[in-house]
Amino acid sequence: MCGIVGYIGRNEAWSVILEGLKRLEYRGYDSAGLAVLNNGTIDVRKAVGKLKVLESSVKDNPPAGCIGVGHTRWATHGRPSDENAHPHTDCSGRITVVHNGIIENYLQLKSRLEARGHKFTSETDTEVAAHLIEEYYDGDLASAVRRAAKELEGSFALVVMAQDEPGCLVGARRHSPLVVGLGEEESFLASDVAAFLKHTRRVVFVDDDLVVSVGKNNVRLFDLQGNEFVASATTVDWDAAMAERGGYDHFMLKEIHEQPRALRDTMRGRLSSELDRIDLPGLNLSDDEIRNINRIVMIACGTAYHASIAGKYAIEELCRIPVEVDVASELRYRDPVIDDRTLAIVISQSGETIDTIVGLREAKRKGAKAVAITNVVGSLAARESDGVLYTYAGPEIAVASTKAYTTQLMLLYLIALYIAQVRGTIDESRAATLRAALWELPSQAEIILNDYSEVVKAAERYYCFNGFLYMARGINLASALEGALKMKEIAYIHAEGYAAGEMKHGPIAMIDPTFVTIAIAVQSKTYDKILNNIKEVKARSGEVIAVANTHDETIVNYADRVFRVPQTEELLSPVLVAIPLQLMAYHVACNRSPNIDQPRNLAKTVTVE
Ligand code: G6P
Repeated sequence: MCGIVGYIGRNEAWSVILEGLKRLEYRGYDSAGLAVLNNGTIDVRKAVGKLKVLESSVKDNPPAGCIGVGHTRWATHGRPSDENAHPHTDCSGRITVVHNGIIENYLQLKSRLEARGHKFTSETDTEVAAHLIEEYYDGDLASAVRRAAKELEGSFALVVMAQDEPGCLVGARRHSPLVVGLGEEESFLASDVAAFLKHTRRVVFVDDDLVVSVGKNNVRLFDLQGNEFVASATTVDWDAAMAERGGYDHFMLKEIHEQPRALRDTMRGRLSSELDRIDLPGLNLSDDEIRNINRIVMIACGTAYHASIAGKYAIEELCRIPVEVDVASELRYRDPVIDDRTLAIVISQSGETIDTIVGLREAKRKGAKAVAITNVVGSLAARESDGVLYTYAGPEIAVASTKAYTTQLMLLYLIALYIAQVRGTIDESRAATLRAALWELPSQAEIILNDYSEVVKAAERYYCFNGFLYMARGINLASALEGALKMKEIAYIHAEGYAAGEMKHGPIAMIDPTFVTIAIAVQSKTYDKILNNIKEVKARSGEVIAVANTHDETIVNYADRVFRVPQTEELLSPVLVAIPLQLMAYHVACNRSPNIDQPRNLAKTVTVE
């Protein structure tokens, strides 16, 4: 968590840094700070609270200078306070550091440094980095950062500025993201390209255990032994407008509306326009390797984990390969059964979630081939996997994931169909039906987004109810879990997703007139069973909203309200069902909380355990 930005160039650093931090605020937002170097003096500003607090105090009296660093924080070590906000400085105030990650050996380092006379002013782990760099500093910042980085354990992305070296910023990373942006006579260092997209799309991704030194016109990369590497730049295809709200009240609403486009882009080039073929070169698996797979393990957290649940249903049905899904934080500690015939599918919007990355490494260590489904080009998951399939969702800024989820589903369907094709576990007419149905999904998503007045009305009626229960059967269990997660994340209402068949084993005891049940009742092999579940809830005076197909006349006899979605194959329906559930959570939250894009206590990318 936490977002970091560094800038060196021709413009006033404070303004570029604040603008960059706004793009990174999804990573943390309990305090913020920046430091600017000018004429041999470093001016540090900090403020508790959201970035706008810092912004308004800085704007009153901006620090002059064209080189600086900035930080937006999600507290791990030390409560949110001015002292604990970054940037942190060494004893002399000549070295300034911003950090994302956790330095696990900071207590040992701190006592060693204190014994050598260093004075600490914060409770953070980060401050040890500033003092350790001070220990090694002899006029060469890159070398001092390199020597310090060797001693740090845990995860870090650091950007460091020294009073005596106004011509460069130095960064270093291990397990936390750090990207260099190369502009015209200006350079950037940041946790995410979104921070500098407005200025440049030319980037250098920094690998683990590398130190990078950037000037206005140059970038140099070193390993921890001091060997220099050639930095190769790539151009990202996101543009600045993609990271703006574009007239919507919130990023979340904009991102919900982007789903038809995102789904099309994710399908493009993979499902042929004649609908006769799926090509997935990104999988990087030969036909023989695909035939050799005897088990698939999916590794993910949060919303991506819910996508993996739908993926299990699709892959098992179409490919007849056993699939295991697990939240990465559990998988990494439980010695899962994985060998060289296992395919690990790692799903992560950011590609940086620490538990997911460790799960990926564990799977590879045990001999599995790994394929990443991620939205971020050059992310850790992408670089450490044998194959990578990108979701072309574009930058997802709202903490609550929407378009990343539905595009993850899209890729899982493509993978399932592709593997089934190669293994011969699907007949051509069923495959053709599914390919045609996949092709229709973006237009069907558009239909939902053209008129969702029923959802808005329901949100107005139910926003002060006590709890929501989402029930479903089959593959839409993923939808129930994801719908409930959205409600918890942004509306702060207790919500649970449940397999409808389990209602009688507990949840039905919760039903009363202040409790809303959202039943996923699209056409499926268990449609009649869901109708029975709805009847049972109604018999106990519960309110029921059904998500059902457009032409389903029966459902109105059962549910109090109906959210309509166009009919598709049951297997693909989670993509469409997700949309009214996202909108419901969004509109309920609009009635309750101002912090839709940045819900309390959460951060978009969880880079610490
Ligand atoms: C956080 C975010 C979620 C996301 C999860 C996994 O909890 O708030 O929206 O689903 O992390 O993130 P990833 O980047 O790995 O998909």
